[in-house]
Amino acid sequence: MNPKIEEALNRQINMELYSSYLYMAMSAYLKRLNLPGFSHWLEIQAREELGHALRLSNYVLNRGVSIVFEKIAKPPHSWESAMEVFKAAYEHEQLVTSCITEITDLAIREKDYTTSSQLQWFLKEQTEEEANELEIYRQLKSSDNSSEVIIMLDRELAKRVYVDPNAPVINAQP
Ligand code: FEO
Repeated sequence: MNPKIEEALNRQINMELYSSYLYMAMSAYLKRLNLPGFSHWLEIQAREELGHALRLSNYVLNRGVSIVFEKIAKPPHSWESAMEVFKAAYEHEQLVTSCITEITDLAIREKDYTTSSQLQWFLKEQTEEEANELEIYRQLKSSDNSSEVIIMLDRELAKRVYVDPNAPVINAQP
């Protein structure tokens, strides 16, 4: 593998691990605010991010490249409100999307089409994550701090189910 791509993928694995760490911190903060549904939603997100790190690690290892696990940065532990948490989460996902886009671009320039095709899955996932977090942020913003709306939303978010990003795709066709 091209060393520049190898380095970029290693950096991205670290970023996915940081994302997981960040969402754990957000989840803990929302639990302290007595919002178990919001907290649960972000706990699931933290698990998904760990799954992304594993998915990317497996890809790198399958290409015969070693992984260098770097230190994971310390995330914040407090925000102004639940709305600020989702604003920060949305902005974080926008940053992740731009990093993956850059690596995809690099892979195409270096003619590593296997990596660029692998990263398509991540780009699709990013679109969904940005949309989900933006929607929750907007709902909180338009709630105007109404406790009824926040409680209703909290109940809704408590229903989120974990989907393993590394689960094999089962073909429904006979
Ligand atoms: Fe895996 Fe949301 O970045």
